[in-house]
Amino acid sequence: MKQRSISLSQTSVKDVHSFANPRSVQVVHLDLDLTVQFSSRTLSGHVTLMILRRDSECDRLILDTRDLSINEVLISNNGTHFKSTSFVVGDRDSILGSPLEISLDNHTSHVRIAYATSQNASALQWLDPGQTATGQYPFLFTQSQEIHARSWIPIQDSPSVRVTFTARIRTPKDLIAVMGARSIQESSVEEQFEFAMDQPVPSYLIALAVGRLEFMKTGPRTGVYAEPPLLMDAASEFSDTERMLTATETLYGPYQWGRFDLLILPPSFPFGGMENPRVPFITPTLIVGDKSLVTLVTHELAHSWSGNLVTNATWSDFWLNEGFTTYIEHRIQELLYGRERAEMEEALDIQVLQEDIGTLDPCDQVLNIDLEGRDPDRGGTSIPYVKGALFLRTLENIFGRERLDRFLRSYFDQFAFQSITTAQAIEYLKRELLSKFPIQARHFLIDEWVSAPGIPADVVGVKSRLLDEVEVATDTWLQRKVPVANLPAKTWSAQEWRYFVNLLPKNIGAKKLADLDAEFGLTEMRNFEIVSRWLIIAIQNHYDKAIPALERFLTTVGRRKYVKPIYSELMKTPKYKVIAKRIYDKARPMYHPITRRAVDEVLARGKDSAR
Ligand code: BES
Ligand code: ZN
Repeated sequence: MKQRSISLSQTSVKDVHSFANPRSVQVVHLDLDLTVQFSSRTLSGHVTLMILRRDSECDRLILDTRDLSINEVLISNNGTHFKSTSFVVGDRDSILGSPLEISLDNHTSHVRIAYATSQNASALQWLDPGQTATGQYPFLFTQSQEIHARSWIPIQDSPSVRVTFTARIRTPKDLIAVMGARSIQESSVEEQFEFAMDQPVPSYLIALAVGRLEFMKTGPRTGVYAEPPLLMDAASEFSDTERMLTATETLYGPYQWGRFDLLILPPSFPFGGMENPRVPFITPTLIVGDKSLVTLVTHELAHSWSGNLVTNATWSDFWLNEGFTTYIEHRIQELLYGRERAEMEEALDIQVLQEDIGTLDPCDQVLNIDLEGRDPDRGGTSIPYVKGALFLRTLENIFGRERLDRFLRSYFDQFAFQSITTAQAIEYLKRELLSKFPIQARHFLIDEWVSAPGIPADVVGVKSRLLDEVEVATDTWLQRKVPVANLPAKTWSAQEWRYFVNLLPKNIGAKKLADLDAEFGLTEMRNFEIVSRWLIIAIQNHYDKAIPALERFLTTVGRRKYVKPIYSELMKTPKYKVIAKRIYDKARPMYHPITRRAVDEVLARGKDSAR
C-alpha cells in the first residue's frame, strides 16, 4: 500500500533543525509506553524505535532530544530480546536541544530508550485544576510543532522523517488520554489508554492530551472532546464540522484520516489551533456563540491535505503547509458560508500581510525562507500563510479555478504521505500546470513568488464589497461628518468589526474610543480577534477604561498571537510598562512555555516578531 511505503522523501534533504541521521539510519515506527505523573510533572517510561538501516556501514543512531533524562538504552535484533548499549547525550544547543548518539550492532533493528521528561519540557503544559474548566482536575497537553516533540520523545525530530506509532499511556484515575491517533478501545487495563497511528506522520504531529475530557458526536465522522462544562457549547459552535469535511472532500479527494474530532483545550493553549491528525487541538476562545471564528476549524481541517498528507520537508518549506492551507481554508469558507464571507476573511488576512511587509526584514518576506541558526518559529509570520495563499489565488486567477483544482488534487495524490521541499513542489507545478499552459504561464512570476521579498506585481486583486463599505463608513465617521451612532455597525458581522477595528488610526484619541465603547461595548465583546486589536488601540490612546478588561484577558488567555502584541504595546510607555510587569507576574505561571518564551523576550527587549 502506498501509504505504508517507507520513504525518506528526498535523500538530499538537509534539515538544519535536527541532529538526526535518517539518511543512514531511519526510525520508521515507534512504540510509546508512558506514565503521566501530575505530582512530579513528568512523563516517564520508554519508547521502542524500529529502525531501517540505510547505510550498512553506519553503527550509530542519532536522535533529537531536549531536556530529557535518558536512563538506559537497549538494542535488539528482533524486537523481543534486548541488551544494554552505550549512548552519549551531546552538548545542549539553545535552539536544537541535545543529540542522543546510540551505538548499534550490525543487526540491530530495534532500540529501546528508558527516559523521563523534565519539568520544563518545551512541548508540555501541565495545568493545575484552577486553570481548567472543571476547576477540579489537572490537565496536560503537548504541542510538538515545530521542534518540541524532542522534549517529550527522543526522536528524529524532522518533518522529513515520517513514522507510524503505537502508544500506551497510563493516567491518574478519572482522567482520560487522547492522542492524535486511532484509539484502541479494548484496553484491558484500567487507567491505561492505547493508540495506533497506522499512517506515517512527521514527529511534529504526535500529540497527547490528558484531562477530564468527555466526547460528543457532531456527525458520523466528527465530534468534540471537551471538559464537561464546555461540551454542549463546543458541540453547538462546531456543529458544521461534518459539512466542512464533506465539502473539502468534493474539492481535494477523500479524507484519509478516518475521524476528525476537535479537542477543546484550556485557554492557555498557545495557538488558535493545531492540526494533530484525527484530533486537531483547538483554543476554547473560538466558542463565542455565533460561529464567527469557525474559519479556524476549516484551517485545521484543510491541513488534513496540505500538511498532514503532503508535508513540508523542512521548516523553510513551511509555506507549503500554511499557504496551501490558508488558500483551502478560504475555499471551504466559500462553499459553506458563501463568497462574501470568504472574501472578507481573505481581505482581513491581506490587511495583516501588508502590515508585516512594512516591518519584516526583506529576507524574511520570501516564501522559501532561510532559517539556518534560528528558531523555526521565526518563520511563523503572515508570509507563509497569506503570501503563500496569494500564490495559489494568483495561479487560480491566471489558469482558472478548474485547472488549479485539478492540479491541487493531483498534487495531493502524487505526494500523499510524503514530505516535500519547495523545489519539489515547484518542479511539479511547472511540469503539471505551467508547462501545459505556456501562454498563461508567462503571466506568472514564479521566481519572484518563491524567492523575492514583498508581493509580486502579478498578484490577484482581492476585493470585499462589504469591507469596502465598512471603510467608507469609518472614514465618514472619522472625518466627523456623522456621529458615532450613525455607523451602520448594528448589522456588522464579526469580520466587519475586525476590519473596522484594524482601520482605526493609531492616534484616534481616547475620546473617540470612549464614544465607540459607549455605543457598541467593544471592550466587553467576546470575539478575541476583535478585542485583542481593540486593546492595542486602547493602549496606544491611553484609554484606561479598557485596562481591567486587558488584565482579565491577559490572565486567562495564553494564545501567543494575541498576548504577545499586547505586551509589546504596553512596553512602549513607562506607565504601562509597570502594568505589563505586574500582570505578567501573575499571568506567567498559566502560560505555556511557548508563550512564556515569547513574552519573556518582549519584556526583556520590547521586540516583536513571531506570530
Ligand atoms: N500549524 C499551525 C500552528 C503552529 C504553527 C504551531 C507553527 C506551531 C508552529 C496551525 O495550523 C495554525 O496555523 N494555527 C493558526 C490559526 C490559523 C487560522 C491561522 C493559529 O493558531 O493562530
Ligand atoms: Zn496552519
